[in-house]
Amino acid sequence: MVGQVLIASLLELRKDMATYSILIVLFYTYAIHGMKTNKPNILLFLADDLGIGEIGCFGNSTIRTPNIDRLASEGVKLTHHISAASLCTPSRAAFLTGRYPIRSGMTGHSGSAVLSFNAVPGGLPSNETTFSKILKEQGYTTGLLGKWHLGVNCESKTDFCHHPLNHGFDFYYGMPLTLLTDCQDSCPSETHVSFKKDLLFYAQLFFLALATIAACKLLNLLPINWKILIFFTICGLSVFMYLYMPYLFFRHWNCVLMRNFDIVEQPVNLEKTASHIVREAKAFINRNRDRPFLLLVSFLHIHTPLFTTEKFRGKSKHKLYGDNIEEMDWMIGEILDVIDKESLINKTVSYFTSDHGAYLEGSEMGPDLVGYNGIYRGGKGMGGLEGGIRVPGIFRWPGVLPAGTEVDQPTSLMDIFTTVIKIGGGQVPQDRIIDGKNILPLMQRLGPHQQHEFMFHYCLDQLHAARWHDVSSGTVWKVHYVLPRFIPEGSGICRGHKVCPCSGKMVVYQVPPLLFNLSNDPSEKYPIPPESTSYGQVLQKTQEAVAAHNLTIGSVPQQLYGSNNRWSPGLQLCCGIFPFCSCNKEDD
Ligand SMILES: *[C@@H]1O[C@H](CO)[C@@H](O)[C@H](O)[C@H]1NC(C)=O
Ligand SMILES: *[C@@H]1O[C@H](CO)[C@@H](O)[C@H](O)[C@H]1NC(C)=O
Ligand SMILES: *[C@@H]1O[C@H](CO)[C@@H](O)[C@H](O)[C@H]1NC(C)=O
Repeated sequence: MVGQVLIASLLELRKDMATYSILIVLFYTYAIHGMKTNKPNILLFLADDLGIGEIGCFGNSTIRTPNIDRLASEGVKLTHHISAASLCTPSRAAFLTGRYPIRSGMTGHSGSAVLSFNAVPGGLPSNETTFSKILKEQGYTTGLLGKWHLGVNCESKTDFCHHPLNHGFDFYYGMPLTLLTDCQDSCPSETHVSFKKDLLFYAQLFFLALATIAACKLLNLLPINWKILIFFTICGLSVFMYLYMPYLFFRHWNCVLMRNFDIVEQPVNLEKTASHIVREAKAFINRNRDRPFLLLVSFLHIHTPLFTTEKFRGKSKHKLYGDNIEEMDWMIGEILDVIDKESLINKTVSYFTSDHGAYLEGSEMGPDLVGYNGIYRGGKGMGGLEGGIRVPGIFRWPGVLPAGTEVDQPTSLMDIFTTVIKIGGGQVPQDRIIDGKNILPLMQRLGPHQQHEFMFHYCLDQLHAARWHDVSSGTVWKVHYVLPRFIPEGSGICRGHKVCPCSGKMVVYQVPPLLFNLSNDPSEKYPIPPESTSYGQVLQKTQEAVAAHNLTIGSVPQQLYGSNNRWSPGLQLCCGIFPFCSCNKEDD
């Protein structure tokens, strides 16, 4: 009897367990499936050379940026947002990998500062991991539109080892190098102007000398062999052509528009590029409306020559400069409209920033090409001064991030790496140092979170300054070890140079180092006297941090100088007949 009851209840239990198991399985399936579809989309806007003083929500009352301002009013404004470098290539490498560019060999060295041509072997190394690669593993469809500037090929014109599609992007449409004045027919060149001038000068001298020798030979004044003369002429011509061709064909070889691995416009037709990028962004979002996507819109705006489509020319209060910013804001508006129309707003984390501060030496190329970094000193290309690295930062995620709020603790562009990986459910690489931090809890105002206690500010591969956020007092200090030598003195720019040099005679080594309290002197006007008590303490603390940081920097292959940044004919992207390289598949 007892046995029967026992068996009956055991059977009952088994039935229950089966039910439970089914329920549990169902629950997990639902949870996993639910998690998958609940992953938010990630939409990142990255402007080029845009200064923090140039948009409405960061205090500019005369440039109209309603769409960027909207992101800020619906999200969180990062008012102390710092780029890892004050130049494009290194800053972008750090943004995508969450690591100081010096760790990946993506910093230049005296003179050579960014990738110079499409056809150079250098670029973001294949063993660096972008957030896009990790999000792709997490089920995201990933796209990149616009500027890349992190290399194309390594050894052949089709290996595409540095190309976005080999760095975790499923889709690419844009310019693998960057916009430059050389890309606009009517503009003077901005690439290596002085080198080109020197080259032409020495070539003229050389050929003049050869011609003189030949003339002497003809007049029987010199007993020189014709063969030797011809040999030197051919050698001279080859060297000259090798050095001069990349400038002669610059526009065709470097102002290239690609769709994935295909060249679609060579050279690019700038009048149409902005609308093409908007079209591709809309199509990408429409295609991927039902799955999690990552879209990085990397603008060609606000880089010189500030090419602006006719519709926006002459419309702003700040000539071409303002027109260009207002056009970029319009592009953002068009893309946000699609997010609204597809009802994706609450499922999309949006972010806006600039790769570094505005360009102040632009006046060399035209009076209207000078940017503005608000109250901050310095600009593009200067290692440690705030104007070159403090950039606008905005995050919007309705329902998760409090709308209309501000975060004034130091954050870095490298934090985007760690933050979006966290949002997408991935894990940051464990086999290397990652400098970015997850700033989601900071923006959500949730309890304890990781802080940047120190930040290191490089000018190419030279450490120029360090920032200490003393968490106990909330004060942010900055120590400058090296500053540019301005021309003219006190002007805050380096006239006659493309950007301020980072070492040698054109910098001033600060002995003793200059210290500023950024919390009450953000414009870095009033150095703390070395005699004051805080000076010694801050300097010592920072010096220890710099020493510890230096120990973490290993030696890696250098991507931006030497042969890695020299034109290599075998890597030249070219459709049609070399060297003319010309095609247009966009308008077909
Ligand atoms: C707005 O930005 C423009 C362009 O850089 C600049 O010339 C102007 O001074 C800025 N205005 C304000 C009020 O910040
Ligand atoms: C998004 O969420 C907010 C609240 O966080 C809500 O008011 C709004 O209606 C939602 N919008 C859509 C399109 O679901
Ligand atoms: C990538 O490879 C280079 C050279 O082979 C090496 O020095 C570097 O440490 C590697 N980087 C990572 C992140 O593994």
